Amino acid sequence: MDLRDLDRAHLIHPITEFRKHEEKGPSIVTGGEGIRIRTSDGETLIDGCSGLWNVNVGHGRREIADAVAEQMRDVAYYPGFWEFSTEPAIRLAERLANLFPAASKLDHFVFTTGGSEANETAFRLARTYHAVRGDHGRQKIVSRAHAYHGITRAAGSATRLPAYHIFATPDPLHVEAPTSYCFRCALGKNYPECELACAEEVEATIIREGPDTVAAVIAEPVLGTGGVIPPPDGYFEKLREVCDRHGVLLILDEVITGFGRTGRWFGMDTYDVHPDLVTFAKGITSGYLPLGGVGLSRPVYESLRDDSPQGLPFMGGLTYNNHATCCAAAHANIDIIEREGLVDNSAKVGAYLLDRLRETFGDHPLAGEIRGVGLMTAIEWSKPGGTEPAGAGPMTHPAAIASEARKRGLIVRALWECLAVSPPLCTTREEADEMIGILSESVAAVDA
Ligand SMILES: Cc1ncc(COP(=O)(O)O)c(C=O)c1O
Repeated sequence: MDLRDLDRAHLIHPITEFRKHEEKGPSIVTGGEGIRIRTSDGETLIDGCSGLWNVNVGHGRREIADAVAEQMRDVAYYPGFWEFSTEPAIRLAERLANLFPAASKLDHFVFTTGGSEANETAFRLARTYHAVRGDHGRQKIVSRAHAYHGITRAAGSATRLPAYHIFATPDPLHVEAPTSYCFRCALGKNYPECELACAEEVEATIIREGPDTVAAVIAEPVLGTGGVIPPPDGYFEKLREVCDRHGVLLILDEVITGFGRTGRWFGMDTYDVHPDLVTFAKGITSGYLPLGGVGLSRPVYESLRDDSPQGLPFMGGLTYNNHATCCAAAHANIDIIEREGLVDNSAKVGAYLLDRLRETFGDHPLAGEIRGVGLMTAIEWSKPGGTEPAGAGPMTHPAAIASEARKRGLIVRALWECLAVSPPLCTTREEADEMIGILSESVAAVDA
């Protein structure tokens, strides 16, 4: 059997219909360089999604492969349990303590293999933090409508996109509050006259549930899978105040926004907010190996240390916590981000890309909103003057455009009524222009 048939016969692909996949078969990726990937069909495609918002340094970086091979030759892995440690994990924790803003006081870290696990761990830490202080009732996690926090049980329950709950009802300890989505404000208000009523609604949710039952609020600095939705000015300041007023921990999910995506190192730099716990993944290794993690602010760490009863260990514990080789990949990846100034490039090329999107599609009658920050941009499509979906028939409008773009050599992602364009942080202006050219042709093809 050829590879394509073997794939059809044995491999399952997420977010892909079983039947359709068997009919159509896979695109087999064989290599890549910079913002492009190659397939076994001889195609070269622009990766306008950075994989899944994670390939921040672009494809084909041999120095990460070399760093990984070198680490594996020394010690590939040893559990991070008990007193055991490895140099790459120690140095990565120290490096992150310096990369996160000093005012955040984030200075203790535990590494996981991805974002869902990071969020699971953060929830466990938040509950433990309250419990060791005698607040055993604080078990609930508040997350916001349109949030994506992963797919495992607790992270999947914090995810508030109904499509992910079809056969997986969220855990009742997870509670939903409205989000800061001005284009489709669930409260029917307009910014700034609304005075950030959506943040007040998070507070109303905490009060309704009973503050002594709520452990944490989790929020993405920019909602990613929900449709690339940056917050209105002042939102996170207010959310921080709400959490403080009720003794609730604020967890920032920086799984997408971390490591330069928003044009600053972290979303918390962009929105000037300091969480109690931060979760991250994706861009920390640019996908060269799986890695995620949780950062704890100094006060949270100290409370866990000082208030835990004698003899009670932290009952986290994943086989691959603090994985030496994955941490080595993170170092090589962060070296590239620093050396090539990719955070700055994300800000500059991101602003340019957003301008070009607005200039090219701003007058399109179905382009409801064109928004973004850094290299996280999107067009939300809707019927003129409103928020009704632009598409008709089985395929959404953005899915039709993404499909046309794919035929023309560009991968972009349709998310509900949005078309997300988020190429690697090494994208040049010329490459941004190339993407705009393909998108123009693709939109014209759908219009026709
Ligand atoms: C904001 C956010 N949090 C968490 C996750 C889950 O990460 P993973 O897929 O690595 O488990 C994702 C994945 O897309 C994400 O976008």
